Order: sequence, then structure tokens, then C-alpha cells
Amino acid sequence: MKQPSEIAPAAGKLGILLPGFGAVATTFVAGVEAIRQGIAAPIGSLTQMNTIRLGKRTDERTPLIKEFVPLVDLENLVFGAWDPIPDNGYESALVAGVLHKEKHLDPIKDFLSSIKPMPAVFSTDYVKKLEGTNVKTGATKRDLAEQLRADIRNFKKDNDCARLVMVWCGSTEIYIRPGAVHETIEAFEKGMDENDHDISPAQLYAYAAIMEGVPYANGAPNLSADFAALEQLAKDKGVPICGKDFKTGQTLMKTILAPGFKTRMLGINGWFSTNILGNRDGEILDDPESFKSKEVSKLGVLESILQPKMYPALYEKMYHKVRINYYPPRGDNKEGWDAIDIFGWMGYEMQIKIDFLCRDSILAAPIVLDLALFMDLASRAGMSGIQEWLSFYFKSPQTAPGLYPEHDIFIQHWKLKNTLRWMMREEVITHLGVEYYD
Ligand SMILES: NC(=O)c1ccc[n+]([C@@H]2O[C@H](COP(=O)([O-])OP(=O)(O)OC[C@H]3O[C@@H](n4cnc5c(N)ncnc54)[C@H](O)[C@@H]3O)[C@@H](O)[C@H]2O)c1
Repeated sequence: MKQPSEIAPAAGKLGILLPGFGAVATTFVAGVEAIRQGIAAPIGSLTQMNTIRLGKRTDERTPLIKEFVPLVDLENLVFGAWDPIPDNGYESALVAGVLHKEKHLDPIKDFLSSIKPMPAVFSTDYVKKLEGTNVKTGATKRDLAEQLRADIRNFKKDNDCARLVMVWCGSTEIYIRPGAVHETIEAFEKGMDENDHDISPAQLYAYAAIMEGVPYANGAPNLSADFAALEQLAKDKGVPICGKDFKTGQTLMKTILAPGFKTRMLGINGWFSTNILGNRDGEILDDPESFKSKEVSKLGVLESILQPKMYPALYEKMYHKVRINYYPPRGDNKEGWDAIDIFGWMGYEMQIKIDFLCRDSILAAPIVLDLALFMDLASRAGMSGIQEWLSFYFKSPQTAPGLYPEHDIFIQHWKLKNTLRWMMREEVITHLGVEYYD
């Protein structure tokens, strides 16, 4: 990737387009508005709260990230969404049950109610346990993609946006393995004309975004922009893309803990993870085909961090199991248990138990914000194609073909900040530090 020679200013309004206007998306939008009104703080967001060290430790230059790189101000964000369920933002947020009605939703009711989802490209072939009435019709998938492109153009014009980004917050679709139709853009476009079953709605949104020059991030684990045809299209059109599957909850904990065990060269015999959750996402993941997409995404993490082939004595025999069970009483407040069987010096065994009483959408919302702002930055800096430096935010980071993903959250964080330094032509930081002892 070429180092940016200059970064266009973050002038004008940025439209954030959200396919899927459920728990994560409404928690994100409501949070931004609450922050703008001064009734909440942007906790969990690097773009809003994190600092970045520049130069030597003794230089004492640690601005906020948002003061270091040109990011859009929250005041200049506008939101659009698609959803097969016609609920407006206020109604959808109430159904999601994440945010406190009196404290956080009612004060911004007019704003949330004003966001009404556009008719979605949706089919129960890909998300089984959902019925929606707010759905587009078209003879071919190409026709549906063209309707999405028209929505994008109209949204930009109607809302007087300088630029747009799209972050997929829709339900997890069934597991699809990339095939011949995903290899080239010609095959993909022919596949759309022929209504190829392996082209899902999420892929059509990604295609539409890239064709319209709109950066695209995928928050769900299903196939979307992570195949050769769209990766090439993104490069050709100069559009940044990244994914996939927001790193929240249990996997966030795994990528915090596993690097710790590995750096101490502690072995692991087994890691059993089970989740109970009762929101709509949980209901959809109760379908085995959607769960398969999630399972593949969740399972890859440990293997990649622990490198069992390199450390067979420590990790080769590790038994890793992930379960997700739909349990309505928990709502969005997921409970994730981990039973971790580790071993130390001379093979002596120890156990760690984690019971994470988590709020998934509270962890996901700042990720949506950061991705939107950083993808817009990347676009203004002329960076196109896969943005691996944003892998910090994902369970299954998208990487160049043949390159294994980096899952260790601390390496990901370091990479993200070094990329910002590199973009701004500041020295990257290696933490070597020998110069302090000369
Ligand atoms: N909450 C988290 O921490 C987290 C973490 C990682 C990934 N995710 C993923 O993010 C996505 C959103 O999660 P959520 O908790 O908001 O789920 P949700 O069920 O509350 O919202 C998803 C919304 O997407 C809509 N939708 C489904 N198909 C669509 C389509 N083709 N076009 C437009 N809209 C569509 C649904 O009607 C629903 O309103 C899910 O795929 C989930 O697996 C969430």
C-alpha cells in the first residue's frame, strides 16, 4: 500500500449507512446522538477517547487520536438504514431493549423516530428465522443491487453528504463458501443476472457500496466483501473494505487472555465457551446454518493466536468448543462462560473460569463508530482494498490472500496506531527503546 502523500480534510457531512437497524445499529446511533446532546460519554471508542504517543517517551507528545488525524466530528454525522422490519429507530431500540427507555431513549425520541429504514434486500433463504415486510422486489439480484445503488445516491443527495460509509449491522446469514461465482467480477455480475444462490443479500450491499465508491465494513461473520471478486473491485474503484464480525463479548476476552497465556508459555488443554443470549441475534444464531458462520469465525481465533503447530507441546491437544444458545430471559445481556484448562511448569494443571455478564451491543456500538470514522479517513487518504490495520475490531480479520490474520488484540492495537503514524508521516514506534540508555 502506498503511503498517503496528503489526506483530504474531513469537511462536510459523513453519511453512515447501516444495512440492519437492530440492536447494534440503534445502540450506535442513539449513543452518538446522546453524546452530541451531552447526556452520555463515548466510552469504548478509540477515535473519541484514546491518545497516541508520538516520538520518544521523553518528548511528551500524546495527543488524542482525533486531534492527530483528521476525523469527522460527531456533529457532522447523519444516518441511514435498511431493514426488512419497518420499525423506526425509536421503535427498534425499544424492541432491542439495550438502552434505558426513560434515561436514554425518550430524550432523543424525535431524532430516533425520524430514521426510518429503507426497504431491504432480504430473503429467508439466507436468514431463516426472520419475517420482514419492508423488502424490495426485483427480477434479478443485479436488479436488487441497482436499487441499493439508487438508494445510496439518493441518500447522499437528500442529506447533503460529502461522503458516505457503510457498516453491515444486519443479521448473520447462512454459511457460504466462496466458489466460482466469487472469483472474478465478471462471474459475480453474471451470477447476479442468473440469481446464483451463492450470492446473498449481504454481498449485494457490499457490491452496491463499492460500485458507488462507498467504504464497506462487515460487522457479521457471513461472506460479504471477503472474496476475490469484490476485493479486486474495491482496489479498482479505490474503495477501502474491511471485516468481519465485530470483536465483542467472549471473543474479545479470548483475544485478551490467550496472548497472555502464550507470552508466558503456559499450555492449554481445553477451552470450552458457552453463551446464552435472548435477543434477535441469538434467535437467528439458533438456526444451525447461521450458527455455522459464527462458529467458523469464533473458532479461528485461538488457533491463530496460539500457533499449535509451532508449539505442539503447549497447544496441539487443546480441545476448543464454542456453543451459543438462545435463552429469551437474558435479552441482549448475554452471559458467556469460559472454562479454561491450562497447565504450567512440569505439566501441572490449573483451571480458570470466566462468567462474563456482558452487554453485546454496548461493546459493539463504539466499534461501528470507529470503523465508520477510520474507513472515511482511509478513503480520504487514498487507501483502497483490504484495510488490515482495522483488524483490531474484528473476530475474523480480512487479510491479503495467503496472509494469516493477526488475532492478538495488543498486536492489532499497535498495528492500528502505527498505521495512523505512518499515514501522518510520523515515526512508527517499535518500543525498542535502547536510545534512552546511550
Ligand atoms: N452485538 C454484538 O456484539 C455483535 C458482535 C459481533 C457481530 N454481531 C453481528 O452484528 C449483526 C447485528 O447484531 P444485532 O445484535 O444488532 O442483531 P439484531 O437482530 O438486533 O439486528 C439485525 C437486524 O438486521 C436486519 N436484517 C436482516 N437481514 C437484513 C438484510 N438483508 N438487510 C437489511 N437488514 C437486515 C434484521 O431485521 C435486524 O433488524 C449480527 O449479524 C450479529 O451477529 C454482533
